[in-house]
Amino acid sequence: MRIPLISGNWKMNTTVSEAIDLVNEMRPGLDQIDNVDKVICPPFISLAPIKELIKGSTIKLGAQNLYFEEKGAYTGEISPLMLAELCKFVIVGHSERRHYFNETIEVVDKKVQAALKVGLKPILCIGESLEENEAGKTEEILTRQLSSPSARIYYFSGLILAYEPIWAIGTGRAATGKQANETIGFIRQHIASQYGKGIAQQVRILYGGSVTADNIAEFINQPEIDGALVGGASLKASEFLSIVRQTSEIKGRLSEES
Ligand code: PGA
Repeated sequence: MRIPLISGNWKMNTTVSEAIDLVNEMRPGLDQIDNVDKVICPPFISLAPIKELIKGSTIKLGAQNLYFEEKGAYTGEISPLMLAELCKFVIVGHSERRHYFNETIEVVDKKVQAALKVGLKPILCIGESLEENEAGKTEEILTRQLSSPSARIYYFSGLILAYEPIWAIGTGRAATGKQANETIGFIRQHIASQYGKGIAQQVRILYGGSVTADNIAEFINQPEIDGALVGGASLKASEFLSIVRQTSEIKGRLSEES
């Protein structure tokens, strides 16, 4: 049984004091919910104070990006080791980074490897654009994004995948649960064909793109979907809490039934 995971991607939102307030608002409720990995990914500068704040809490911390070099003259970048001291997870290859910061498949691959090397758990984002989707190229694009020489190591090391169709991110136009389940099913089959069924059954695959408290149930009720990467809705404590709570209830019920 894969443990469900809900991760909040705060993107470039919240000052340090706002981030602290948000965590203080979420923490009591989140700590009462079991059977779900609860991850928040604030901006880099809030990681250290939040790490202190959540001592003794079940909330886990993640970063939104990293650089692949160990250290040195890379002005403005943050290394894997710097993060490993502060958090457990790191989002890699988000479509906003691929798009606005020209991150190629090769760069994303180096980042995943660098994260794994220091024991960080990467949440690797993949997904197709609207044009690619409409041209029927979704599976081709996903296969390309998943083809890395080091992918075998990825899966053995507990990589988490997030399927985020670009047309659904921040648009209010989420995929349907059925669509997302089918595509995530395809991703799992692809992994099975390359690396074996055992690995494919272990890897957690999240859905991301306009997830809210109102539509989370639709996704979580699907057997292939192990959780969500939540952007906008993770910035409201009550909404994020509701997303995590529904996930715990629904996956708990599904596992009892199976
Ligand atoms: P959204 O963002 O929930 O605001 O659509 C999701 C993401 O980019 O991870």
